[in-house]
Amino acid sequence: MPSDKQLSLFDEPNFGASLQRDSIPNDAKIPIPPGTYETMEQIAEHCNRCHRCELGKNRQNAVIGRGNLQAPIMIIGEAPGQNEDETGLPFVGRSGQLLDKILESVGLSTERDVFICNVNKCRPPDNRTPTPKERDACKPYLLEQIRIVNPQIILLTGATALKGLTGEKQAISKIRGQWIEWEGRQCMAIFHPSYLLRNPSREPGSPKWLMWQDIQIVKAKFDEFKTLN
Ligand code: URA
Repeated sequence: MPSDKQLSLFDEPNFGASLQRDSIPNDAKIPIPPGTYETMEQIAEHCNRCHRCELGKNRQNAVIGRGNLQAPIMIIGEAPGQNEDETGLPFVGRSGQLLDKILESVGLSTERDVFICNVNKCRPPDNRTPTPKERDACKPYLLEQIRIVNPQIILLTGATALKGLTGEKQAISKIRGQWIEWEGRQCMAIFHPSYLLRNPSREPGSPKWLMWQDIQIVKAKFDEFKTLN
């Protein structure tokens, strides 16, 4: 006759999500399992005291995201710069202003249609590219953000964002404008707005011109999903 003791096998493990949440930030070896966070505020709270990598040492603010928490489109950048570190908001400097204009050009609004975030939540010194170790340390936060926002479309701005999410090392000029499926979501790599600032020509075939083609493809997919929902 089995004893009642075996019934305890049906109990929840005694390390509930909230307990784990409290013990996570300071060691990149400790995984952050999917489902750890229920809200973006919880992620923000953690990131602001996170030391899973060295970038936590110098931050003024962890930069979590801006836009609609239920947006159908998520835009993922590389890492915060100085303006973002100071304000705690992603893409608020010159690149961010250009990004907003690109979205507006096809009638997409940051507040309504888009959630913007970065692979890394803390600013790297001198705006250098985050190292693979720093990207990996921060990735669980990004995956949780994707799970919570649940976007149908993900735009990856620049090669670091592409590598950070999908692991693919590819030149943006080679794969921009094409849909890649990642975890059941439609993803597209696009030029980073800072690259467009450095290449201001609008001639056919120029990066800015190509971005105009890409954002129209994105808008068409957005409209397609809207009619299906
Ligand atoms: N560049 C990025 O990739 N992200 C920002 O938030 C700002 C500039």
